[in-house]
Amino acid sequence: MYSTYESVQKKVEAIFGFMMEGQEKALFNLVKSIPKNATIVEIGSLAGRSTASLGFASLGRGNVVYAVDVFESDLSHFRKELPRDYFDVFLKNMHKNGLHETVIPLRRRSEEVGASWGSAYGRKIDLLFIDGGHEYEQVRSDFDLFFPYVCPGGIVALHDIGEHWKGTWKLWNERKHLLKNVENVHSLYWGNKKT
Ligand SMILES: C[S@@+](CC[C@H](N)C(=O)[O-])C[C@H]1O[C@@H](n2cnc3c(N)ncnc32)[C@H](O)[C@@H]1O
Repeated sequence: MYSTYESVQKKVEAIFGFMMEGQEKALFNLVKSIPKNATIVEIGSLAGRSTASLGFASLGRGNVVYAVDVFESDLSHFRKELPRDYFDVFLKNMHKNGLHETVIPLRRRSEEVGASWGSAYGRKIDLLFIDGGHEYEQVRSDFDLFFPYVCPGGIVALHDIGEHWKGTWKLWNERKHLLKNVENVHSLYWGNKKT
């Protein structure tokens, strides 16, 4: 459907979000690099900017993108741009871009989804993108609950990796040995799960 990030760039970047330049493109290309009929899990979708990157790259490939988020927040840097409850904003952004049949929102806490992933979904994950709560305990929980379901060689990507984000930085340094072929664009890091 869309073979290059440039063909969807304007649509993606019209959505409010916190990705840095080049990161949406990197997510798009990661999806293109994995086999079709993939299961993609995103933890932390906000208004759907990164979700749209994953979703556009998935169109016509039989992929499913699970978008795990509570879709509400009191954080002031979200509130300037978004209502407290931004689930409708997310849904509208998926609908107007034709992504509503590819992206399945799971409006629950990520630790609940992760704890029941095996019994509720039972699907191996081909690409896991973690951008939910940035506190150490939260990102550790997200990584440790979902990582066992990532298939060998599957991709794990984390956002906001850098000394500036103490929680994600600590977790990354504790878990990066589980990944190979590690690359990054600014604070977006990813690698393949070691077999
Ligand atoms: C940094 S934002 C995600 C940004 C998004 N990836 C983008 O492209 O702009 C983090 C999101 O994680 C969600 N979140 C934080 N902790 C969560 C949890 N325990 N369960 C589900 N969602 C959570 C917040 O509601 C927020 O929407």
